[in-house]
Amino acid sequence: MKVKVDQARCQGHTLCAMNAPEIFELDDVDGHASAVSEDVPAGHESHVINAVRSCPEQAIFVEDR
Ligand code: F3S
Repeated sequence: MKVKVDQARCQGHTLCAMNAPEIFELDDVDGHASAVSEDVPAGHESHVINAVRSCPEQAIFVEDR
């Protein structure tokens, strides 16, 4: 699974990082999230899906490989 945060959509709601703190990091300056790595480590997929569902801006995109 691959994951990306659309920086144009992200408004810094932080729910992604609460659902999957091992996957998303928040920028100190603007609070926008980004994925630590595009490749989701095995076993973390469900956390990422929860993050996708929690984001009010629908800023998180996943791709299954
Ligand atoms: Fe941004 Fe959505 Fe996370 S707005 S900080 S990607 S919950």
